[in-house]
Amino acid sequence: MITKRLPLLLFTFFILSAGYAQKMIGTETETQKEKRMEWWQDGRFGMFIHWGLYSGAARHEWVKHNEKIDNAGYQKYFDQFNPDLFDPQKWAREAKEAGMKYAVLTTKHHEGFCNFDSKYTDYKAPNTHAKRDLVREYVNAFRAQGLKIGFYYSLLDWHHPDYTIDDIHPQSPADKSDTAYARLNKGRDMAKYRQYMRNQITELLTNYGKIDILWLDFSFPRKDGHGKGKDDWGSVELLKLIRKLQPGIIVDNRLDLGDYKDGADFVTPEQVSTAELAKYREQTWETCQTFSGSWGYYRDENSWKTHRQLLDLLITSVSNGGNLILNVGPTARGEFDYRATAALDSIAHWMHANSTAIYNCTYAPDNYTIPENTKLSYNKATKRLYVFLYTYPENGKLILPGYKGKIRYAQFLNDHSELLYKASEKNAEDLVVTLPVKKPDYEIPVVQLTLE
Ligand code: GLC
Repeated sequence: MITKRLPLLLFTFFILSAGYAQKMIGTETETQKEKRMEWWQDGRFGMFIHWGLYSGAARHEWVKHNEKIDNAGYQKYFDQFNPDLFDPQKWAREAKEAGMKYAVLTTKHHEGFCNFDSKYTDYKAPNTHAKRDLVREYVNAFRAQGLKIGFYYSLLDWHHPDYTIDDIHPQSPADKSDTAYARLNKGRDMAKYRQYMRNQITELLTNYGKIDILWLDFSFPRKDGHGKGKDDWGSVELLKLIRKLQPGIIVDNRLDLGDYKDGADFVTPEQVSTAELAKYREQTWETCQTFSGSWGYYRDENSWKTHRQLLDLLITSVSNGGNLILNVGPTARGEFDYRATAALDSIAHWMHANSTAIYNCTYAPDNYTIPENTKLSYNKATKRLYVFLYTYPENGKLILPGYKGKIRYAQFLNDHSELLYKASEKNAEDLVVTLPVKKPDYEIPVVQLTLE
């Protein structure tokens, strides 16, 4: 019986699952999407900025959750907030010099505090010693540097009176029973909170000119009902609103709309190792990474990544067809920490000479073998292949396996100095590039190959 029906069953399953994957919220075609995403994919490198009241606590942006602080206990950070050294032009210059093409600033993080002047709350920067809309100043400064403008907006809100207490709320009950949650959530109304979010996102996407990216964070649906996902946020309607207000905008994938083909523009592997990045090749992606572990300013954190690790993140992202957004957590005074500035300066030095191997680049076609101790990137339009020299060959020889007849010219990218090459004596299919004894003054030098 079953075997007789199997083909029909399979057919039905196929049709249903195909229909499922095709579920659409809007009507955009693939080609239109590609066009909309073009600048972002070409740019490859952005700056994330996490800044809020938690910067004053200086021990993680989740401090309110981690230490189970309530609104009254958190008030001191609001009262003390006084970013007297905030100079967004300086931030924008540092981003620009590091070669970043866009930035994304927290307009509101999980703590609920708004860096912008919202009509719908008093819990905002203009009501602190800052006395002004910090988001507006960020927008003006970054736009003046030619950088694209992104807003991060937290879907979570641990301050709002209507936001229901869930599994990760700072006031989450120790007793995880439904009755315990019900008792705590009496009088809280997510419908009102949804409206609050819609109102604020409308403000953000109406009052600041063209916004290029919206980074919404995040969904955590739970089987027991004490998480939050698309129905809690009203995600479908929210995304429609966003696209209506800013038709060109690029939106991340944290609205819990995985059922929809157009429920997100890119995936967001967070703090993953470089080894993991290869698996995202088939998708549109941006890895978000910190300098030292937390996103908000954390004074005592000592796990800062080295210059080499940061370059590796950038290079590995591009060599797998993705973007990197690197986070800075400014201090409560509004400055980049000296360690962040030093890291950005080193990146600026490298990017000044080597950014051609980053912008407009992606992974190399399969017929180019990756030479030993290197990674590759590729610019389709200019037909150039870039070899990142992770270990500078001690014998001055770079072997290009199977490259015979495939290249026309070789040079260092940093100074465009010619590199001579010839067929290998050991294997006629291989080429051997002669490198100078002295490694160029870059942690990871780049060889540019002009392809046949
Ligand atoms: C996480 C964290 C958050 C951070 C974000 C950035 O979702 O909750 O603190 O803003 O990742 O990707």
